[in-house]
Amino acid sequence: METMVESTVQLERFGYLPVENVQALASKNLDNIPSRYIRPEIESDVVSADESLQIPVIDVSKLDHEDEQKKLHFACKDWGFFQIINHGVADEIIEQMKTDAQEFFDLPLEEKMVCAQVQGHIEGYGQVFVVSENQKLDWSDMLFLIGQPVHLRDTRFWPTNPSSFRETMDKYTTELHKVMIQLMKLIAKNLGTDPEMLLSLFENEIQAIKMNYYPPCAEASKVLGASPHSDATALTLLLHANEVEGLQIKRDQKWVPVKPIPGAFTVNVGDMLEILSNGEYKSIEHRAVVDPEKERLSIASFHNQKMGTQIGPLPDLVKTNKALYRTIPVEEFRKMKLTSKQDGKFMIRKMKL
Ligand code: OGA
Ligand code: NI
Repeated sequence: METMVESTVQLERFGYLPVENVQALASKNLDNIPSRYIRPEIESDVVSADESLQIPVIDVSKLDHEDEQKKLHFACKDWGFFQIINHGVADEIIEQMKTDAQEFFDLPLEEKMVCAQVQGHIEGYGQVFVVSENQKLDWSDMLFLIGQPVHLRDTRFWPTNPSSFRETMDKYTTELHKVMIQLMKLIAKNLGTDPEMLLSLFENEIQAIKMNYYPPCAEASKVLGASPHSDATALTLLLHANEVEGLQIKRDQKWVPVKPIPGAFTVNVGDMLEILSNGEYKSIEHRAVVDPEKERLSIASFHNQKMGTQIGPLPDLVKTNKALYRTIPVEEFRKMKLTSKQDGKFMIRKMKL
């Protein structure tokens, strides 16, 4: 695959503050972890122990039936989170993606640093974007890559070790794009808007992959792998890439742990879809906790409107209802997102009228 950085549409360039590699920090087995990782506020958080409280499960192979379509509508509206089964993505592709990601994070630090974030770019291996010196830090490292469209890929940041990584990413992103389109078609139907109109925003979508690596932490109950946030995307498809759980979603002021079904993807409504749906669907805050003994790996696929389009409530949905959010170009939305501290529903706060 050749390098494809030359393109008419340039991705944003921003500066972030460099922070320590967490996997390396964790391997020092310090008695006390640095205070920038300690979150006193999480001690008083309520985590639901009610095992019956689980996000809905949607069977993609049944989505030609009205019942399952209604279930999808309810999942988007009432939960903002659900798992999808029978989604049609081949097991081999999923398993290969998991293996390649694990092998990458298992490499010695110097070898991973070949793909390190560089000043001014959003992609690469490093930590979640830090914008201020006093910001609390997440107990995680990540590899962030633009997967689609192909001409926006910046292969400088794409690992060549393991050797199958790039080819796997290509297949994986292609397959997940298809699943997203399939869901979006039905979401349009469920919202009562023209599917062609909605799909035209996503056909050449910007699809980004974020591989999250959460090292074990001796003080796991005092840190967060991912701070509470909503995704700025339209839809996120998350793969739990090893057997360790950690995702929690906010529902009725409680944190509800997600119990991943083997082979399923966890899907969530992001800020963009909340805005497009004029608030009918809600983007939900979520976070990741870490395990005291085991590393955790997850792979998020973020699906965003293509460049050159406007983000705002869909025209069909504001014919009789008042628009609840502003309409702005995707480029402006991305710029706002990438220069903000990504906490809570930060993009929704900026877009609400
Ligand atoms: C994310 C995210 C959760 C997880 O990457 O945006 O919310 O479980 N990840 O890793
Ligand atoms: Ni997220």
